[in-house]
Amino acid sequence: MTNTNWTAGKIPSQAGRRVLITGGNSGIGFHAALELARHGAEVILPARSEAKAADAIKRIRAEVPGAILTPAILDLASLASVRNFAAFFSERFPGSSLDLLINNAGVMALPTRELTVDGFERQFATNYLGPFALTALLFAHLKPQPGTRVVTVASSAANFGRIVFDNLQAERVYKPMWGAYSQSKLADLIFALELQRRLTAAGSPILSTAAHPGYAVTNLQANLAGFVMRFLSAALAPILSQDAAHGALPTLFAAVAPQATGGGYYGPGGFQELKGPPGPATIPAAAKDITLAKRLWSETEHLTGVAWLPR
Ligand SMILES: NC(=O)c1ccc[n+]([C@@H]2O[C@H](COP(=O)([O-])OP(=O)(O)OC[C@H]3O[C@@H](n4cnc5c(N)ncnc54)[C@H](OP(=O)(O)O)[C@@H]3O)[C@@H](O)[C@H]2O)c1
Repeated sequence: MTNTNWTAGKIPSQAGRRVLITGGNSGIGFHAALELARHGAEVILPARSEAKAADAIKRIRAEVPGAILTPAILDLASLASVRNFAAFFSERFPGSSLDLLINNAGVMALPTRELTVDGFERQFATNYLGPFALTALLFAHLKPQPGTRVVTVASSAANFGRIVFDNLQAERVYKPMWGAYSQSKLADLIFALELQRRLTAAGSPILSTAAHPGYAVTNLQANLAGFVMRFLSAALAPILSQDAAHGALPTLFAAVAPQATGGGYYGPGGFQELKGPPGPATIPAAAKDITLAKRLWSETEHLTGVAWLPR
């Protein structure tokens, strides 16, 4: 793919399409939701609280007055919350009802190791286990037709990630950014690629794509600790980063661009994939390891208690 001039203006009409995006109340997810609503999609916006979902809806309606938006509650760091949200979705939108699922929500570089209510390390749970379970539980609602996609938001940090099966929950060693976060984001990318292989094997028309936003200034950097990270964030951001609206473009490209392909990974096309218009992103070698992907999938089914095979 050589197109590097893709903008939100190139989003095809989304009229009649239903989209679910996690983390749509902030940063990249908010801008992705806004653009999809602007192009006619009905958008379901689960957030961690009613107030956050309502606030996002208010801000989108301020720009898109006629937008069809549904608030909901979802905490991806709790498997019970994921199950509750899936039950809400099934009741509210029964049958084949979903065109696009964007697994965007995430947390980064929590300074100290935190455990979720399920006993998982918080970044691995929020960024990977929760989205895996959510996708599995909603899979039957994805329309089995061309145009239906599951988008998973990874990160360049995946390039530095390693899946360490005896330290998945950082039980032995906890490194906030280059350990737990990068592992969770590599897991996201592995998941997106393995999901596409399973969809292809099942003859499904549904596509699984992945994206990363490069470096976009959002609330994500709030937890950065340590001099080096703070320096990089504050001093280099004006040169190397882009705003959240531009950071959302690779996600939007992966979600709706006709040029995006199943198993495709998209990120900013500029220097070191940090900023710039969307283009193909570099897939780290570990994300292409099929044996690793199968082992991680099976381990994830075990951890989440959600077993599934795409139809
Ligand atoms: N910004 C970047 O440069 C960058 C680079 C690489 C990858 N990414 C990825 O891009 C995605 C979006 O990040 P962002 O930069 O837009 O950050 P953000 O502004 O902090 O947004 C993150 C979103 O995820 C939500 N979230 C966090 N924990 C959650 C949980 N337990 N359950 C449900 N939702 C939860 C947040 O909700 P609250 O408002 O309740 O916290 C928020 O809506 C993430 O997956 C991130 O890893 C970002």
